[in-house]
Amino acid sequence: MDMHGKTAFITGGASGIGLAIAQRCAAEGMTLLIADIEEGALAGAAATLRAEGATVFTYRLDVADLDRYRAVAAAVIADHGAPFLLVNNAGIAWKAPASAATPEDWRWTISVNVLGLGYGLSLFVPAMIAGGQGGYVLNTASITGLIVSPGGSAVYSASKHAVVAISETLAHELRPHGIHVAVLCPGSVATNITDADRNLPADLTPDALSSAAAEERAFTRSFVDNGIAPAAVADQAFAALAERRFYVVTHPEYRDEIETRHRQIEAAVRGEPASDVALLAMAKQVLNLQPLT
Ligand SMILES: NC(=O)c1ccc[n+]([C@@H]2O[C@H](COP(=O)([O-])OP(=O)(O)OC[C@H]3O[C@@H](n4cnc5c(N)ncnc54)[C@H](O)[C@@H]3O)[C@@H](O)[C@H]2O)c1
Repeated sequence: MDMHGKTAFITGGASGIGLAIAQRCAAEGMTLLIADIEEGALAGAAATLRAEGATVFTYRLDVADLDRYRAVAAAVIADHGAPFLLVNNAGIAWKAPASAATPEDWRWTISVNVLGLGYGLSLFVPAMIAGGQGGYVLNTASITGLIVSPGGSAVYSASKHAVVAISETLAHELRPHGIHVAVLCPGSVATNITDADRNLPADLTPDALSSAAAEERAFTRSFVDNGIAPAAVADQAFAALAERRFYVVTHPEYRDEIETRHRQIEAAVRGEPASDVALLAMAKQVLNLQPLT
């Protein structure tokens, strides 16, 4: 996998997992095209990356803003050509149960996590195919794209299941073009995701969203803060790209939950009765791992 001198376009590249992926790309000798909604963090990340020797171009972008995304993508393609590595990573996590989510919870989460990713594909993938150079697409989902948490993450989990489904389909579509697709499904990673509401769009006020109680938010923060390092996630993602693997599951401790879910589906396909017993038992176990991000 020779990435030297190639370009990587990374959304949400100013913080956390996106920034770690940018640093990993820089280590491969790639040119970094970093997009993020947060102007100050974007400038800070660019300064850090340049101090480490990277070539960096920055783009202020809300991935949910289609007009702005069209302009950014056109500028990127005009100045640098189609990216060799497209990293659709920008995302927000907000706790909102299916039974009590507000319409604004749905709109914010789906617009950033699903539409923002879809826009990235629409605006770059045709140019990547037309360029005929092959390449890579890395989409950031979550472990909640593979299992669900019964503790109130329905909207977020729906968005990340969508990312997995989109990625899986895309992988088939792009294989004939020599473009490898991988989907990143991390558990808890020590990033700034607990404060995702720092990037609320201007037309959304915090009181329009479901709000977690203060102690629940503190618990989420400690769960995330005790997660694995973003650099470890980036390393695993790059290993998967090099080996052309599709699923990147960084937290093996979720293996039982994943296997149980799949066994339930297989049992249902075989028409076996009472197939939800193990699922309910597992849900209890998942609940103990709350919150999944
Ligand atoms: N941290 C975790 O435990 C965890 C686990 C699984 C999946 N993820 C996923 O990882 C991805 C990166 O999150 P992170 O944990 O590094 O959090 P983070 O908050 O540290 O970084 C997210 C970055 O995305 C940017 N961003 C947010 N909304 C945006 C928008 N509308 N347009 C453009 N940029 C936007 C933020 O400014 C920030 O720089 C997300 O998709 C998240 O869902 C995180």
